[in-house]
Amino acid sequence: MKNRIVVVGFMQMTTRCRRTGNDNMNARVRRRDFLRAGGIAGLAGLLGGMSATAAIEAPRRAAKRPAAPSGKVLALLDRIRAAYLTVPEAEGRLLNLLLKVARARSVLEVGTAYGYTTVWLALALEETGGRLTTIEIKPDRFELARRHVAEAGLSSRVRGHLGDAHQVLTTLRGPFDLVYLDADKGWQEDYFNKLFPKKLLPGGLFVAHGAILLAEKMKNYLDLVRNHPELETVLVSAVPEDGFAVSYRRRAAG
Ligand SMILES: C[S@@+](CC[C@H](N)C(=O)[O-])C[C@H]1O[C@@H](n2cnc3c(N)ncnc32)[C@H](O)[C@@H]1O
Repeated sequence: MKNRIVVVGFMQMTTRCRRTGNDNMNARVRRRDFLRAGGIAGLAGLLGGMSATAAIEAPRRAAKRPAAPSGKVLALLDRIRAAYLTVPEAEGRLLNLLLKVARARSVLEVGTAYGYTTVWLALALEETGGRLTTIEIKPDRFELARRHVAEAGLSSRVRGHLGDAHQVLTTLRGPFDLVYLDADKGWQEDYFNKLFPKKLLPGGLFVAHGAILLAEKMKNYLDLVRNHPELETVLVSAVPEDGFAVSYRRRAAG
């Protein structure tokens, strides 16, 4: 670890990079058969009644206001999307809804990029009263994300780490009740193994982006979460061409 800089709200941590960040958002792979839930409505039904209530270490901030984004924040999100490569708006909205339905309060994002999904996630945490930890390897993207989060008025909800997530993860205490994976798609197994089981609460979710478009690259991860005895995994799509692999960690019966 080279150095460590702490900034109020959006905390910055610099670590030695293990490998170069790899943005795979444009990659095209053949669409594969995969269990599909019925879009947002199906997801809400699927997760209805699920709430992460186990104790979480990080101090919680009270919910400040309903999570519906203001016109100003929507305009900011549109600007980010127009200027940079981001997920489609429908996927940002689905992530936002997923956090609210799951009542997630301790959330981890791997792959911040320009902060587009970061803002959607942090908006949901305004309603649940939670905190987001997000990790980005590229300094220029990290700085832009920090600015976008600040412009959205959400800095107090977000703790940013600049560095290689494979290393940063090992320094995070967790536990998390929702982990969103959207970084180097061929390495998601490593993220999973560093987080599970200690850093994902029972009743918590792993949500992995690119599960259709990048299914070949994510094969090992997808096989792992589909066959894991403690997980239930479904594919959930907000857009026709891609989807999230959503993996729910079962609670103990009783
Ligand atoms: C697909 S983009 C994330 C998009 C973002 N979630 C959005 O739509 O707003 C993936 C990001 O992960 C970052 N990344 C790749 N490998 C990484 C690693 N090992 N550690 C941290 N970030 C990484 C890339 O630099 C890139 O910015």
